[in-house]
Amino acid sequence: MTVQKITIAIDGFSSTGKSTIAKQLAKHLGYIYVDTGAMYRAVTLFTMQKSLIDKEHFDVLGLVTKLNDIEISFKFNPELGFAEVYLNGENIEKEIRTLEVSSFVSKVAAIPEVRYQLVKQQQQMGKGKGVVMDGRDIGTVVFPHAELKLFMTASAEKRATRRFDELIGRGDVVTYEDVLRNVQERDYIDSHREDSPLRKAEDAIEIDNSDLTLEEQFEKVLQLAQDTLD
Ligand code: DC
Repeated sequence: MTVQKITIAIDGFSSTGKSTIAKQLAKHLGYIYVDTGAMYRAVTLFTMQKSLIDKEHFDVLGLVTKLNDIEISFKFNPELGFAEVYLNGENIEKEIRTLEVSSFVSKVAAIPEVRYQLVKQQQQMGKGKGVVMDGRDIGTVVFPHAELKLFMTASAEKRATRRFDELIGRGDVVTYEDVLRNVQERDYIDSHREDSPLRKAEDAIEIDNSDLTLEEQFEKVLQLAQDTLD
């Protein structure tokens, strides 16, 4: 029987299904799941609530001086089977998934002071191992020594279709073209920013799930996790 626990880092472009596979893995292994994108989205929501960002301007200094007023936490929801994100004690799981938050989040995530603060918190949450963490810099910056690193990819069109279906499914009014544009814009900003740009860690295993079913993907990734644990 395997008793040792490992750290599983899952990185990749937006809407590549990182959180789906991370949740499945965490549930199966009895590990903690941490959605680091939700943390950057929480800071973005805070920035919007304080009117520090809109289409024309972004008061970076204003945000940086208020970073200590932001408290992000996760609370497990047994009905959903995963931990929901809270901003200063308030459940914001639904608010952070809008296209409006998505349209600002890459700009907020490019600020080094924001990254420093969140990375510190992420390292703290995963220090006992037994964690599946997904994001953009988990295998490169947050846990460069993770035992298993995955890098998820899929075509921009496939990803936009998935995201569009998800947003429509929950009643949001969006067009496919807007969603595709957002996916492409975020790909560009996330992989070209100066601080911790999205890139595949040298020892990460790339998984293109454009043509994989959820079951096929889970089987493949679970096998990799089990091989790592053996
Ligand atoms: O995974 P997501 O789409 O919810 O992430 C939202 C944004 O946050 C994404 O565009 C880039 C940023 N992000 C990041 O820079 N680093 C992470 N570890 C996770 C997300």
